[in-house]
Amino acid sequence: MAVDLLLGLQWGDEGKGKIVDVLTKNYDIIARFQGGPNAGHTLIFDGYKHVLHTIPSGIFHKTALNVVGNGVVIDPVIFKKELENLDKHAIDYTSKLLISRKAHLILPTHRLLDAASETSKGKAKIGSTLKGIGPTYMDKTGRNGMRVGDLELDNWKEKYDSLTEKHLKMLNFFEVDIQFDLKELEAEFIKGIDKLKTLQFIDSEEFLNSAIKEGKTILAEGAQGSLLDIDFGTYPFVTSSNTTAAGACTGLGIAPNRIGEVFGIFKAYTTRVGSGPFPTELFDKNGETMASVGHEFGATTGRPRRCGWLDLVALKYAVQVNGVTQLMMMKGDVLSGFETLKVCTAYHYKGKEIKHLPYNIEPENVTPVYTEFKGWEADLTSMTDKQELPQNLKDYITFIEQETEVPIKIVSVGPDRKQTIMQ
Ligand code: IMP
Repeated sequence: MAVDLLLGLQWGDEGKGKIVDVLTKNYDIIARFQGGPNAGHTLIFDGYKHVLHTIPSGIFHKTALNVVGNGVVIDPVIFKKELENLDKHAIDYTSKLLISRKAHLILPTHRLLDAASETSKGKAKIGSTLKGIGPTYMDKTGRNGMRVGDLELDNWKEKYDSLTEKHLKMLNFFEVDIQFDLKELEAEFIKGIDKLKTLQFIDSEEFLNSAIKEGKTILAEGAQGSLLDIDFGTYPFVTSSNTTAAGACTGLGIAPNRIGEVFGIFKAYTTRVGSGPFPTELFDKNGETMASVGHEFGATTGRPRRCGWLDLVALKYAVQVNGVTQLMMMKGDVLSGFETLKVCTAYHYKGKEIKHLPYNIEPENVTPVYTEFKGWEADLTSMTDKQELPQNLKDYITFIEQETEVPIKIVSVGPDRKQTIMQ
């Protein structure tokens, strides 16, 4: 099949960037299908750490073409910075980075509205990355948005001005004090647009479907994770796009029957940034160890991530919603040194033990039921073969495979490209 999908199965930050980078050599095209600069895909190779927000992770490879699909929202200001970072490393992107005309643009006032909305929510805030994602998708579904293709029209600035004016009126509805200098923000935005316009804009659904007909292979790259999906995530503490498999069809214009493998990425434990329920969250030494050994700080915001045990109830839910065919377990190395490991296999919910994700997983409704595993001491970071892995880790892997009924094809034992054990 021509199109494979790569998705995060938890609350994001599973390590998708690294895996896309590892898999890129197998594909002609890497296509990002949703989200925006709220994402931060970290790649480490040749001694450098690269963080991408909007640009697909295949950009570091010589041959792959990279498409930013219609389902993505682009902030020209952040996009420009990403391109400038590539310039610093002499990465040539001009011929291999293609932007969908139907992708929506994040305006400076979308960011202001995001900030105003979050501030007005007080304690109930989502924990948004404040990149303007929610307001931009609201304008998309509200049929008011500005798209990349509009930039090819002579009157794009008029459209921009009228949408900005509307946003300024909306800002007044929020009774919060947001300081900004619109002139400065606009000047930055225009510079971003100028840079964006140096790239090729395409009818991406046409481009991708023609590529499929020509026998090309495509990897569709997701951002965030299934539990942040606007429909299936822990609403309202979610992002504003479909992060699950169906989002790849709408975010790229690819029909479901074109999809082959669905690669599901998960961490050997669980993390979350921002607010919202997290049944297996740890508030003890174990959680602190995961955070410090795993360097659990957001790639986009630098915020510390909340950490906890692996939640198999949630993982199985994500496997089901996405139709995952192969699993990839990240950060196995971070669990070395724990005497005992726990995996959540059910929830106590309204006096019963249940094995599915209920409507409401707030802490007052759900208590995790754990199965315990013996830990291992060995440092995994230089291991290259599955046979070298400690038996207790192999048991942990086998248990997850049995519970999810999906094979684990990659075990990642460190951030570098090379620290990847393939089965
Ligand atoms: P927004 O999409 O920036 O509005 O954020 C909504 C929620 O999704 C917040 O809890 C964010 O922390 C979370 N979120 C957004 N993008 C990411 C990501 O790439 N990784 C992890 N969490 C994310």
